[in-house]
Amino acid sequence: MAIQSSPNLDGLTATLARAFLTGYEEGGGETELIHLNELDVRTCIACDDGWGQCRQGDCILEDDFEEIRGKIGGADAFVFATPVYWGDLSESAKAFLDRLRRCETWSGRGTCKGRKAVGIASAGGSGGGAARALLNLEGYLRRVGFDVFDLVPVTKFSKDHKLPMLEDAGRRLAAD
Ligand SMILES: Cc1cc2nc3c(=O)[nH]c(=O)nc-3n(C[C@H](O)[C@H](O)[C@H](O)COP(=O)(O)O)c2cc1C
Repeated sequence: MAIQSSPNLDGLTATLARAFLTGYEEGGGETELIHLNELDVRTCIACDDGWGQCRQGDCILEDDFEEIRGKIGGADAFVFATPVYWGDLSESAKAFLDRLRRCETWSGRGTCKGRKAVGIASAGGSGGGAARALLNLEGYLRRVGFDVFDLVPVTKFSKDHKLPMLEDAGRRLAAD
């Protein structure tokens, strides 16, 4: 499954996530693309004096977070694609990944443990900050236990050679 965290449903970020999924389907897999900004995922309220009741398992906020978390747990491979905003992840990406990090760190649930993940940072022409955004994304992915398969920075100038590369990555992971 793939999550893309741009408000632009047909922009570069979504296109890159779709490229991976196209390859994955060609490799015989089933896919789903989640547009994070279409869903209700609130920011963490740091309940329980900051320690979080999610240590017991579920997040107490009633929104779409737990459903997405459950889908990650049912997926063989995971892609997270974010636009680069100010050299960092998008706001919706940070909101979701902050909560995933909290809920997975102490709950012992292991939703992401050992699953292959690909991180994608979709930047503007300059590409400034894409590497930093990916570094931050890598931190989230590794913290929750993903096995990071690749981290891919893309700009409008590099997309023509990165798109086929992502399709190939999808095919390879589907065959795994
Ligand atoms: C608020 C904002 C901040 C941005 N900051 C950066 C940046 O730091 N570095 C960069 O290369 N591009 C930056 N961009 C450009 C986007 O990363 C780029 O257009 C991206 O491909 C958008 O993805 P989308 O087509 O999925 O919307 C920024 C765009 C916006 C809207």
